[in-house]
Amino acid sequence: MAQETQEEKEGVTRVAIYPGSFDPITYGHIDIVERALEIFDKVILAIAHDISDGSKRSLFSVEERIEMAKSVFEHSPNLIVDSFKGLLVDYVDRTNARVILRGLRATSDFEYEFHMASMNRSLNTHLDTLFMMTSKDYFFVSSRSIKEVAGLGGAVEGLVPSIVARRLKEKFNLPLAKEKQMGWEY
Ligand code: PNS
Repeated sequence: MAQETQEEKEGVTRVAIYPGSFDPITYGHIDIVERALEIFDKVILAIAHDISDGSKRSLFSVEERIEMAKSVFEHSPNLIVDSFKGLLVDYVDRTNARVILRGLRATSDFEYEFHMASMNRSLNTHLDTLFMMTSKDYFFVSSRSIKEVAGLGGAVEGLVPSIVARRLKEKFNLPLAKEKQMGWEY
């Protein structure tokens, strides 16, 4: 049997915070969580509230986003769904995590992520951002494109869990004929 590490002896739990808008959660996000759970003891999926200045408005309320994420991860006890308001670094500070986890799809994500990670590190030097490359099957999937496609009546099954596809359908109030035509019947 492998020897226990010092951390294991001391019962240290490795926690990562996976923050985002998750508006809505996609299989790209889920893939990152599943792989992160192989590295960390606990992953906290932290859903950001909209900033009150109205600069970013989510399609789904934070309660709706939490409900969808909780339903997706109901059988993953090491994944905790939470939400936060205000600065991410302040939220992370209130947990015992030191790692912020983010997914990277393509080089186009890099600049935004680099700025965010650098800003967070300058706000709190104890925290680090860890990036995981999105799996090749999901590198083109973003919440933004999912909303656009769904809003225009396109099929998003296979890219988001069925609960999310259903909620999108309800949100956009798609006519039944179109749902049938797009193979969106559940
Ligand atoms: O999924 P997103 O929209 O790319 O996630 C961005 C998010 C929510 C992680 C980021 O906007 C954030 O951390 N917001 C909280 C406010 C904050 O801490 N801003 C400073 C980071 S530059």
